[in-house]
Amino acid sequence: MEKMLVAYASRYGHTQRYARWIAEALRCELARRENVDRFKLAQQDVVIFGGALYAGRVNGLDLVTKNLETLAGKRVYLFLVGLESPGEGNTLPGTVKLPFPEDWQPDGVFYFQGGMDYSRLSLVHKMMMTAIIWITRRKAPQERTADDQMILELVNKEVDLSRKEAIQGLVSQVKKDLASTQNGNQGKTH
Ligand SMILES: Cc1cc2nc3c(=O)[nH]c(=O)nc-3n(C[C@H](O)[C@H](O)[C@H](O)COP(=O)(O)O)c2cc1C
Repeated sequence: MEKMLVAYASRYGHTQRYARWIAEALRCELARRENVDRFKLAQQDVVIFGGALYAGRVNGLDLVTKNLETLAGKRVYLFLVGLESPGEGNTLPGTVKLPFPEDWQPDGVFYFQGGMDYSRLSLVHKMMMTAIIWITRRKAPQERTADDQMILELVNKEVDLSRKEAIQGLVSQVKKDLASTQNGNQGKTH
């Protein structure tokens, strides 16, 4: 039986909700990023890490980037949660660049849309969002994208784009890879 962990970093609960849905679907352990260290990672065969996007960076991703040696030979999947629209074919938004060395790639990277309740944001986050809203407001109305329009409306209403069905691609890939491992095909080179 493969040992599998879903670890997540979440400020306002959206990433946590996705992490819980995934752990339930795969019937595996769920843990906050703060409660996972390298020794815990070392015990796993499969690690799924989820972090939210803040100003183009993935919250808590150091759990992966600082532990690449420990993760060698294990299957590693990432899911990122943000408000931006996904890229074409449900891929990561074009603004996101993952900070991995050239010779290391996760087994899968997935992107899910989360949400935001402006009234619950920390002071720092409110200030960051105010700056983003201010910059967006300066765009000519005909140049604004649907994401720009959403940003402009964030102050007035809570947005929640989380959907449980979004996890299906990740869950299917993990199950498929596990089945192939059990059939003797490791398929993992790092
Ligand atoms: C200050 C700030 C910066 C953000 N930057 C991004 C971003 O660069 N890209 C994006 O898609 N979403 C961005 N978001 C939206 C969050 O990723 C989104 O609210 C997510 O659901 C938060 O997840 P959490 O509740 O698990 O922390 C930002 C939100 C805040 C408050």
